[in-house]
Amino acid sequence: MRFEDIKTIGIVGAGTMGQGIAQICAQAGYKTILFDINAQILQKAEATTASNLSKGVERGKLTDADKQATLANLSFTGDTLTLSCDVIIEAVVERLEVKQSIFKDLDAVNSPDTIFASNTSSIPITRIAAGIPNPERVVGMHFFNPAHIMKLVEVISGAATSPEVAETIRQLALKLDKKPVMAQDSPGFIVNRVARHFYVEGLKLLEEGVADVQTIDKLMQASGFKMGPFELMDLIGVDTNYSVTSSMFEAFHYDPKFRPSRIQQQKVDAGHHGRKSGKGFYTYE
Ligand code: NAI
Repeated sequence: MRFEDIKTIGIVGAGTMGQGIAQICAQAGYKTILFDINAQILQKAEATTASNLSKGVERGKLTDADKQATLANLSFTGDTLTLSCDVIIEAVVERLEVKQSIFKDLDAVNSPDTIFASNTSSIPITRIAAGIPNPERVVGMHFFNPAHIMKLVEVISGAATSPEVAETIRQLALKLDKKPVMAQDSPGFIVNRVARHFYVEGLKLLEEGVADVQTIDKLMQASGFKMGPFELMDLIGVDTNYSVTSSMFEAFHYDPKFRPSRIQQQKVDAGHHGRKSGKGFYTYE
């Protein structure tokens, strides 16, 4: 698939990341279809998109015509996973078997040329591509949260990814007004590999009773970080962040420096997933 031939983009997963990715694809002029198995999440994604676009108009960053054109490019579906598009970007839960099963299902209804991009934070692209027909079209396209604002995109080539596919995705990221960086395949890639210790060490300080959540966050902010680790985990999704740490712990052969925290696991078990569930390390309206 050449960059110039991309007309339609399918996004699988309408949660924290999928919603924002779909919004920017539609804003860039692509016919975009957003799929999720959860009807409530799809409704929420539709409302968030309309609200984000309205804020853009209020701030003078978009015209009302831009907003209407974006909405016209975007459709939402919860029917069976039969998206047939030029590029598919999956943004579902951070679990290898779910991501692979989605690409296997989509292989049956897409051309061998369709690019299968994963927004995974940590799972090696080589692993996701294993067993997928035409693995040369599987690539990492890792956006950052919030996807409609953050500029960075890591474009990750797995062992089988063709250079042409990586280049098409790099150009697509530019078209979406992002700053793509090419990365080789490794658990957590670049940003999450470095950033993991921000969360893991913050959680260790909490477990050891060195300081509470608010103190750690305030101190990290005072030292120049935009957010402390707990605020950031609430924004990311405590469940998603926990899955990413667990995936990296396993991928690095249980290296203790990536060991997931029991406090975080309890939050996940209790459904305290952060902003998206109204409660995480903090409580939200
Ligand atoms: P989320 O939990 O907010 O959303 C995941 C969505 O996937 C849910 O709406 C769920 O209903 C849907 N889903 C689950 N199984 C599905 C299936 N079989 N078919 C269709 N939809 C399905 O998760 P989030 O945070 O958006 O993360 C998604 C991916 O993006 C993960 O791989 C994560 O590592 C990655 N990511 C997350 C970031 C973050 O800050 N939250 C940042 C960058 C990447």
